[in-house]
Amino acid sequence: MTCDPSPVAAGRQCARLRGVKQIYVIGIGAGDPGQLTVQAVDALGRTDVFFLLDKGEDKADLVALRELILRRHATRPHRVVTARDPERDRAAPSAAYAPAVDDWRRRRADVYQRLIAEELPADGHGAFLVWGDPALYDSTLGILREVHARGTEDFGWSVLPGISSVSTLAARHRVGLNQVGRPVQITTGRRLSDEGLPAGVDDVVVMLDARQAFGRFTGQGLHIYWGAYLGTPDEILLAGPLDEALAERIRAVRAAARARKGWIMDTYLLRRTDGH
Ligand SMILES: C[S@@+](CC[C@H](N)C(=O)[O-])C[C@H]1O[C@@H](n2cnc3c(N)ncnc32)[C@H](O)[C@@H]1O
Repeated sequence: MTCDPSPVAAGRQCARLRGVKQIYVIGIGAGDPGQLTVQAVDALGRTDVFFLLDKGEDKADLVALRELILRRHATRPHRVVTARDPERDRAAPSAAYAPAVDDWRRRRADVYQRLIAEELPADGHGAFLVWGDPALYDSTLGILREVHARGTEDFGWSVLPGISSVSTLAARHRVGLNQVGRPVQITTGRRLSDEGLPAGVDDVVVMLDARQAFGRFTGQGLHIYWGAYLGTPDEILLAGPLDEALAERIRAVRAAARARKGWIMDTYLLRRTDGH
């Protein structure tokens, strides 16, 4: 038979009939359980084994969201298998960043391979729950492709897109990500801080910014839309022309929130407002 690549058809008709293991990579949104799509709920309800990676971090809220989602939507008898995420060298200097990530991905692929081989029965459905959208700064898809390429396990996989922190940021500030007919670039705090603002782009979305790189760009005609814990009850939003006073306010609010909760996830949009 031919297999329709849509997740619903692939799950219901293809994998179980062919006796092939099927993996769902499910985007669960950026913190609000209401962000789950109907497709995601459907896949959650067809999953036999959920694979959770324990990152050893003190982010109880993130774990709580996953547990809530499973309580509500994992309606079929299922198992939850937790594996320890390999340690990653986060202190690596920029030059060593790519090799450090490559090494971590390889070790993570070993873990995924073992989970799929040992924990998922033939023709079973497994799922990885991915924060936000799996297409954005997440390694799950690349790692599954690597495991599949090793050829030791036969499995299919499909992706259920989720609402990303970037979509949530734009929605909560009630702005678009790009200006009319103009590009938008998504990058990391590390890159922004090392390389400066990209040329030819008016809108830059910055993720994974432990360095608060925005502080380098005050007084340059930029507007910032900043958000932390987006979609959660602790959400914080700040926006305005990026001058030293606003940069300092974001730094202070960020530090206080981080001290209070023990962790922070923030994202922001830098918009050039003086060019066009
Ligand atoms: C490893 S990336 C994962 C991104 C995720 N796949 C997504 O679609 O949003 C983690 C970064 O996403 C951003 N992020 C994720 N969730 C967030 C949230 N609820 N509020 C603010 N930023 C968030 C932060 O920049 C964080 O450093």
